[in-house]
Amino acid sequence: MKVSVWRGGAEGRYQEYDVPREPSQTVLDVVTYIQRSLDPTLAYRYACRVGMCGSCAMTVNGTSRWTCRTHVDRVVRRDRLEIGPLRNLPVIRDLVTDMREFFDKWSRARGHFAPTATKGDDFARIAPDSPDRAAADAGIECIGCGVCYSACDVVTWNRDYLGPAALNRAWTLVKDERDGAKLERLRAVAGDAGCHSCHTHMSCTERCPMGLSPTAGIAGLKREIAKAALAGEL
Ligand code: SF4
Ligand code: SF4
Ligand code: FES
Repeated sequence: MKVSVWRGGAEGRYQEYDVPREPSQTVLDVVTYIQRSLDPTLAYRYACRVGMCGSCAMTVNGTSRWTCRTHVDRVVRRDRLEIGPLRNLPVIRDLVTDMREFFDKWSRARGHFAPTATKGDDFARIAPDSPDRAAADAGIECIGCGVCYSACDVVTWNRDYLGPAALNRAWTLVKDERDGAKLERLRAVAGDAGCHSCHTHMSCTERCPMGLSPTAGIAGLKREIAKAALAGEL
């Protein structure tokens, strides 16, 4: 098949390679073949090759995906593939993006746990069937791969927008009964660059390889902000 691969930085271009088809071949296998057999200067990232780490995320025929979990048979069109870096992130080189702004936004969204207990306290006991726990559990398995961020058009239009992953993370912490920074976190995600910019396009939810719904979490944040505002807390 003919495979076009992005080469260079932001001002790069697609370069075409001939790659043999193999049974059960993944898009990551294709990239690895090119790097090992055709052009050792090709830069790309991966670690686990089994859908655990999320580091192999790229754009395949215009759609953000984990390349190790994407079989060529599912995405090849007329014996052609186009493989590029994730959208909405600066390209360092070839298929490697700079994830710093993605994780800086987790920090801006107060995506870290604020403990209320000390090491002298007993373990917190949160009932598995508590509604808050169920809401947090639904978003907790995010592995920070950036696929949703790459798929979000609002990030493209507004580079300040916190994006689906950071907001999903904030939602899981707002619903964590052990956390002590709920209002600060709601303030952090309430501004113009926060959850109210989400247009509910659902691209993040459609594309998340972990089956999470950042859209639902963002809707939840909007509800919590409205409740806190009505209560005069924000
Ligand atoms: S639902 Fe919101 S966060 Fe998700 S892709 Fe659409 S605009 Fe972006
Ligand atoms: S929400 Fe899903 S797509 Fe987005 S970073 Fe987390 S695991 Fe990846
Ligand atoms: S290499 Fe780890 S998820 Fe693809």
